[in-house]
Amino acid sequence: MNYLNMNDEKLMPVVIELNTLLAEYHIYYQKLRNYHWNVLGKNFFDLHDKFEDLYTTARIRIDEIAERILTLRYHPVSK
Ligand SMILES: [Fe+2]
Repeated sequence: MNYLNMNDEKLMPVVIELNTLLAEYHIYYQKLRNYHWNVLGKNFFDLHDKFEDLYTTARIRIDEIAERILTLRYHPVSK
């Protein structure tokens, strides 16, 4: 048991899912950066700003997910 009174058998699937979500958020973040950099056309400035808003929010979520894993006494995967 850990400090949450959850045994590893119940906790491990949650940690695995959170690490999967963390990996997918990194991909999402990087795609948003790519769109931000490479947007073309007459709506460039609106889309450029919107993608920046989205990747900024994604960066915050990435940190929140990683820190949630840490609160469960596991480590976020980053290899
Ligand atoms: Fe930029």
